[in-house]
Amino acid sequence: EVLVKDLFSDKHFAEDEIVTLHGWVKTVRGSKRVGFIELSDGSAMKHAQIVMMSDMDNYAEMTKLPISTTIKVTGTVAYTPDAKQPLEIHATAIEVEGASDNDYPLQKKKHSYEYLRTMAHLRPRTNTFYAVFRIRSLAAFAIHQYLQEHGFTYVNTPIITSSDSEGAGEMFRVTTLDMNNLPKNDEGKVDDHEDFFKKETNLTVSGQLPVEAFALALRNVYTFGPAFRAENSHTSRHASEFWMIEPEMAFADLDDIIVTSEELLKYVVSYLLDHAKDELDFLNGAVDENLLDRLHQTINEKFARITYTEAIEELEKAPVKFDVPVSWGLDLQAEHERYLCEQVYNRPTFITDYPKAIKAFYMRDNGDGKTVAAVDMLVPQIGELIGGSQREERQAQLAQKIKDYNLPPEEYEWYLELRKYGETPHSGFGIGFERLLMYVTGMENIRDVIPYPRTPGNAEF
Ligand code: 4AD
Ligand code: MG
Repeated sequence: EVLVKDLFSDKHFAEDEIVTLHGWVKTVRGSKRVGFIELSDGSAMKHAQIVMMSDMDNYAEMTKLPISTTIKVTGTVAYTPDAKQPLEIHATAIEVEGASDNDYPLQKKKHSYEYLRTMAHLRPRTNTFYAVFRIRSLAAFAIHQYLQEHGFTYVNTPIITSSDSEGAGEMFRVTTLDMNNLPKNDEGKVDDHEDFFKKETNLTVSGQLPVEAFALALRNVYTFGPAFRAENSHTSRHASEFWMIEPEMAFADLDDIIVTSEELLKYVVSYLLDHAKDELDFLNGAVDENLLDRLHQTINEKFARITYTEAIEELEKAPVKFDVPVSWGLDLQAEHERYLCEQVYNRPTFITDYPKAIKAFYMRDNGDGKTVAAVDMLVPQIGELIGGSQREERQAQLAQKIKDYNLPPEEYEWYLELRKYGETPHSGFGIGFERLLMYVTGMENIRDVIPYPRTPGNAEF
């Protein structure tokens, strides 16, 4: 048996060699004398061209096959130097292995992404989603490969957790309690001690805090797992369930993570340019005609780098009017981020040293009373792709921060112990995997780069 990808590989087939393929009918057309089936079998972006002559036994029936019928094709290889595809299969026999109904919803015409979202179980059969999900897998592999080759150890942090890593209170509760009959304590509050874990538990928003513990033992580590956020953001770049890569490095400062994150992004893009050529060519044609240019530019240019304060100056003198005004102290909105990396720098851009009031408690104070050693990487089309920081490694300062942010001290005792037993400078960052995929595929909505999207009001399947 031969795979469609073999037909387009270095594997050599002799002219007239007999081959057998299994796959799905993508298109079919036929005249009195000759018919054509485009066959896909999942092994390649490309499809095999099957040619049938009218003297084939079941010719008439085969030219009327519904799209998506599962078939077995036996035929001979014929090279076609003058045609679009290098070779075709001249069928000697075609067998239906599984019938398909005539009302298959993905007929040849192009459907909107909104429509395709209503059928997450069928959309991988389209060329666009085939390409996106192949790239998703290859990008994950490239990330692991880069990190492993640079001495990072992969650590699995918990999905169910009793601490809020970001301290932002955007968590999904995990409970086995009967919601209609909640046990109450003396104060009339829900008694978490009656619950499965004997305390309040939630889905993780980030593996950062637990992976920091491992950085302080194994030096360079990373997580790569799902994160859950119950933020009620109805945007094209927020999902309630997304995947995050969080490298964490001991004996590293902000400059070190800036260098590492730039190298890592360039590595992933180069890897895809080498290993997902067909997929990227397709997306460049069908989704975003600037995709390949942008990706080549990404690997060839040094990223820009400015401070938050410089960013605000740049935004204040911008000739465009923003929906949300900016001034020093306010968080940047997507429109500001995109203006900076698209209009001003036209490349991925690092923004450093944000005001401490808008950033998480664990970030290291810069000592100016105003800013922390934070960094975001902004990229064209998306805005924030990466968020990271140097961590507050000084025990006294961290204890004070936990107080200042009104976090429950007993939940962060273990985190303080990481400092109590050896204050070690360390830094890390988090890459939103779906946002990375939006960047490398040109897809404009996060719902279209994750197999089964979860967003407010939507958890199909
Ligand atoms: O900036 P964030 O919130 O940072 C953290 O979680 C840190 N603990 C990371 C670290 O330093 N280890 O999230 C990191 C990235 C964002 O830059 C964004 O790309 C992505 O995760 N992200 C989301 N992606 C999709 N949907 C959401 N709701 C996201 N929230 C964050
Ligand atoms: Mg962030």
